[in-house]
Amino acid sequence: MCGIVGYIGFRDAQNVLIGGLRKLEYRGYDSAGIAVLDSGRIEIQKSVGRLANLEDRLGGRPLPGHIGIGHTRWATHGRPSDENAHPHSDCSGRFALVHNGIIENYLALREELLAKGHQFTSETDTEVVAHLVEELYNGDFLQTMVQVGKRLRGAYALLVMAKDHPGTLIAMRKASPLVVGQAEGEHFVASDIPALLEYTRDVFVLEDGELAVVTKDGASFYTLSGDPVEKEPLHVTWDAVAAERGGYPHFMLKEIHEQPKAIRDTLLGRLTEDGQVALDDLTLPEGFVEKLDRVHIVACGTSWHAGLVGKAVMEKLARLPVEVDIASEYRYRDVVDSDGTWVIVISQSGETADTLAALRMAKQRGRRVLAITNVVGSSVAREADDVLITWAGPEIAVASTKAYTTQLVVLYLVAVYLGLARGTLQAAEARDILSAMQDLPQLAEQVLDTAPQIERFAKRYAGVHDTFFIGRGLDYSVALEGALKLKEISYIHAEAYAAGELKHGTLALITEGVPVIALATQTELYEKTLSNIKEVKARDAFVLGLTWVGDDDLEKSVDEVIYLPKTLPLLAPILTVVPLQLLAYYAAVARGNDVDKPRNLAKSVTVE
Ligand code: G6P
Repeated sequence: MCGIVGYIGFRDAQNVLIGGLRKLEYRGYDSAGIAVLDSGRIEIQKSVGRLANLEDRLGGRPLPGHIGIGHTRWATHGRPSDENAHPHSDCSGRFALVHNGIIENYLALREELLAKGHQFTSETDTEVVAHLVEELYNGDFLQTMVQVGKRLRGAYALLVMAKDHPGTLIAMRKASPLVVGQAEGEHFVASDIPALLEYTRDVFVLEDGELAVVTKDGASFYTLSGDPVEKEPLHVTWDAVAAERGGYPHFMLKEIHEQPKAIRDTLLGRLTEDGQVALDDLTLPEGFVEKLDRVHIVACGTSWHAGLVGKAVMEKLARLPVEVDIASEYRYRDVVDSDGTWVIVISQSGETADTLAALRMAKQRGRRVLAITNVVGSSVAREADDVLITWAGPEIAVASTKAYTTQLVVLYLVAVYLGLARGTLQAAEARDILSAMQDLPQLAEQVLDTAPQIERFAKRYAGVHDTFFIGRGLDYSVALEGALKLKEISYIHAEAYAAGELKHGTLALITEGVPVIALATQTELYEKTLSNIKEVKARDAFVLGLTWVGDDDLEKSVDEVIYLPKTLPLLAPILTVVPLQLLAYYAAVARGNDVDKPRNLAKSVTVE
């Protein structure tokens, strides 16, 4: 997804911009560019592809100057190309700007500006804004941008530079995130905090509908209508090193291995000694739980898969009907809810556009919203009524791993909390579940020991075109996540199927040697799953089974088995997903793919 960096101060702007953009590379992008203002001229350099391409161009002709803006683009309007890369400028070259988000009324604005004689050089919605700035410019930079804001519909984080105002950057936020970093004699603007951590830890987070006028010595804040706003900086305490690879060849592998710690951190302080859940961050009004009659879980991608597990667990422990929706579906369907509906949104980044829109819709309908997110201060976290943070730490690889397992941890805690509060779960059973959860970090360590076996299997099968993941109940939910992981980073086609449903169609695709990953951890469904495994074995599939240590039956029916250390079947997803993540990782490595930045995908999808 797009990234924004801006600088004004005493350093060489080009170096700060490129360094900042590099910190945002993990978000995924297809082109990059910078603009630097010097001696009354704005110079722009941009290039399709990786940041290295841009650096090659700048190597031959660096842009001098101490004020500049930079951008990594993930194409929405217009294909990835040099022309469509940001920054964009107006006809006269007096302004340059970068933009994250989508300008929904850009076509109408483009028509209007074309009629006035403006000439466009790209297919983007962003360029329209640059010409609009030129059209509305009245000598007052701030007032011009306020007028521009009034004409724009959609979502944007905009950072603008003007030739006539060489000491000022203007940043505007509607929906897409932006922060301003302050330091002595220099200021920074970025779409994400990691881009400026090298220089400062004091940041102002722009709220939705705010604008910042940034100079080297300070920043002042306004609403998009131009009224002044007071803001206090936030001191960021994150460890920047935590976001580096720490010796692993890829962030994804590092993050898979961080799961025991992430699970431990997420449980920390949330279990009491007498076997209760302490969700102190929940501030539910008196009588809220008693009034609940359903839960709606809304999320995208991997977070949606976590939601599927959440549904099963909540329905079992709290005996509440739970619906799980993909956010882009939820926001446009005729939702049936009630005063007793609790909406839970799950988002690692807390910035996913569809999830945020679903959250806003739920709030408009008068629903109370709980956010489960990994990013403190993210939009989702700030807008929800309650927030439960997953303490997974920064997740850099595009494919989500430790965020998923920690989302599951939080969902289990919420399910136990609801079960106890509603009287559907006995205290003794809750104690058993919570005590088993405390053992999960250590068990996850043991699961990681299966890595060499999985690597061997992945290398052997890295050349296949199709794979199938099957399971029943909770195993099916994890199968969906396993298949998604494999598709995302190895580009091998993978389909997850409820094992009992195979015979209704998919079985036709099972031929000799096709790998089938069969999850068989749900005791009550074990026999049934075994029958389904036999169905695919009879068609000569190669079956890799996952079961508990001590199950000697499965190996008689499959070609290879991965044994997991025992826990409650209810908690299986937190462990079973780990070998599937490793499988995707090693398959992608064997195929020579860019594991952390898979093609066409972005870490944080801040457009609809
Ligand atoms: C993108 C990422 C996925 C992620 C999804 C939802 O597609 O590539 O890994 O699961 O967005 O993101 P969120 O931050 O809302 O969990």
